[in-house]
Amino acid sequence: QEKAIARPQGHRPLVVGHRGNSGLAPENTAAAFASALAAGADMIETDVRLSADGELFLFHDGTGRRTTNIAEVFPDRADDPITSFTAAQLRRLDAGSWFGEQFRGEPILFFSELPAAVDFSLGINLEIKAPAESPGVEQALAAALAGEADWKRLAQQQPIAVSSFDHASVRAFHEAAPDVAVFQLVDGIPDQALLAGARWLQGVVANHLSLTAESAAAVRALDLGLWAYTVNGAEYTERALDTGLDAVITDFPGTLVERLSAQ
Ligand code: G3P
Ligand code: CA
Repeated sequence: QEKAIARPQGHRPLVVGHRGNSGLAPENTAAAFASALAAGADMIETDVRLSADGELFLFHDGTGRRTTNIAEVFPDRADDPITSFTAAQLRRLDAGSWFGEQFRGEPILFFSELPAAVDFSLGINLEIKAPAESPGVEQALAAALAGEADWKRLAQQQPIAVSSFDHASVRAFHEAAPDVAVFQLVDGIPDQALLAGARWLQGVVANHLSLTAESAAAVRALDLGLWAYTVNGAEYTERALDTGLDAVITDFPGTLVERLSAQ
């Protein structure tokens, strides 16, 4: 890999805003990413999918029902996979008003728009979401990172990490973009044999609820970085910080920044 993603100041974990500052603004929108920047986050995490006509966009759920007005715009298709819509159709949706009236009209953000949305000032963790629904997403992502001027500029200044729960997808992305740091997302106990066989990984992003001192030590023994998701609330935060993480993904990055500066 080109460069390791290190903790700032050598000791404090990186603060990663989950889907932006999603506790305070509509997830995965420009408003949420700008809010994470204002809150002092080091990075943001976001979910990457491919539209029906091959454009990368940022969206968590499999359908648009929870976080858009899709039931008004496409009433017969509200429960269709979000990836079955074209980019032009996705651009017609309001992804803000479900969260609060002040966000009405906030559009779904497309991958190309993300560097400017964070003013080229935040690191980015791109999670390849449900890759089986988006064949070719790994190659499309690798090509966009290498080919888009805004992404090249961002990558010169900020860390970029690509992750997925799907190991084959992480591997496929790594093969397409060997210089970009890749992380394995893990929901339960990390599979030591799988990790040991994938020396090209930079680290593991683990569910903090299933992370133990033993599993953390096992990841460290392989010389891998260790991040945790999605850590909200004082009690969970203290427990996660005790694990000695490189980065903490949270819906409330501003709260975590304050907690860490109080140390
Ligand atoms: O990056 C970790 C976390 O985002 C994975 O869970 O469901 O929020 O995408 P989810
Ligand atoms: Ca995610």
